[in-house]
Amino acid sequence: MSDETPKGTDYLASTFNAPETPAEAALRPLSFEDFTGQAKTVERLQVMVGAAKRRGDALNHILLSGPPGLGKTTLSFILGNELGKTVRVTSGPVVEKASDLAGLLTSLEEGDLLFIDEIHRIPKTVEEYLYTAMEDFRLDIMIDQGPNARSVRLSIPRFTLVGATTRSGMLTAPLRSRFTLQTRLDYYDVATLTGIVKRSCGLLDVEVDEAGAKEIATRSRGTPRVVNNLINFVRDFAQERADGKITRDVAADALELLEIDARGLDEMDKRIMRVMAENYRGGPVGLGTVAIAVGEETDTLEEVHEPFLIQEGYLQRTPQGRTLTPKAYQALGLKGFAAAQGDLL
Ligand SMILES: Nc1ncnc2c1ncn2[C@@H]1O[C@H](COP(=O)(O)OP(=O)(O)OP(=O)(O)O)[C@@H](O)[C@H]1O
Ligand SMILES: [Mg+2]
Repeated sequence: MSDETPKGTDYLASTFNAPETPAEAALRPLSFEDFTGQAKTVERLQVMVGAAKRRGDALNHILLSGPPGLGKTTLSFILGNELGKTVRVTSGPVVEKASDLAGLLTSLEEGDLLFIDEIHRIPKTVEEYLYTAMEDFRLDIMIDQGPNARSVRLSIPRFTLVGATTRSGMLTAPLRSRFTLQTRLDYYDVATLTGIVKRSCGLLDVEVDEAGAKEIATRSRGTPRVVNNLINFVRDFAQERADGKITRDVAADALELLEIDARGLDEMDKRIMRVMAENYRGGPVGLGTVAIAVGEETDTLEEVHEPFLIQEGYLQRTPQGRTLTPKAYQALGLKGFAAAQGDLL
């Protein structure tokens, strides 16, 4: 294998870090009806929305967690639509000071939603102000300094905080406990993703058959955002190399070109596993060490690659570090797991 970064890696990395494009926004489901999968989370949210509407009350605070691209932002916008309320969007690292938070909260109207993405990255000093805001709908802000310093109490409208995080483990216990509903999004199964492929293709006016849709779904690592990104490339491929229609063969050839294999593993997934197998005899090895070896940020490995590899049974997390499973050796086409372990003896 050559050392240069393969195209497939770049493609998927951009899938997770890029800001939303208008094309992406066009594919975002706007109502519960439009949103497939995540049945438990959706049902919980529907119950809460129904009750809040009936009582004419604000929704209780909600924490959505799970890997990137599964629909956290989408669901928060759906909540706003279903309630007929405005959703203000911000992100943990952006709310640097208590005054930033005060500005956001005082701009809300009764029943509005404040969506804080990456809420685990909110500074600790701001987090403490959030507690009283969430519980008592007030903010006690210090103004001035030194002898003139005094505390001012601001009343804020009854609002709903929707927090999203890819790392729920990094939330402090006091913050977490203030969310009435904490719900986790899981990777989607192939059948649900196949439906999402067909829906997106329909909206984009791209012809796709059942087998073509399933092929894209299988290679989308359980993630709707990846589905939508792959469709864009496969559509181009179908136009350039076929008659425009996405069939199984067209989809498979297009995704082979992106070096996304039939299991949905991308080049970075395989590099992680190969480094572990070849340099560390399958582990246990620390994630930081693997990150340096593959030239990627530890955070990206932990949030994007590792959850999928663990869920699919390629990787295990142990107290000593990460270890590869026999399935990983198979996927890499390397000699058997037992044989590799035998080298140690
Ligand atoms: N259930 C679904 N059905 C159809 N499309 C979906 C679904 N869930 C998500 N999507 C699509 O996937 C894309 C990514 O979803 P979203 O932005 O909500 O993910 P996220 O969980 O907020 O990710 P991140 O953690 O990176 O912010 C959206 O553009 C949306 O169109
Ligand atoms: Mg998001």
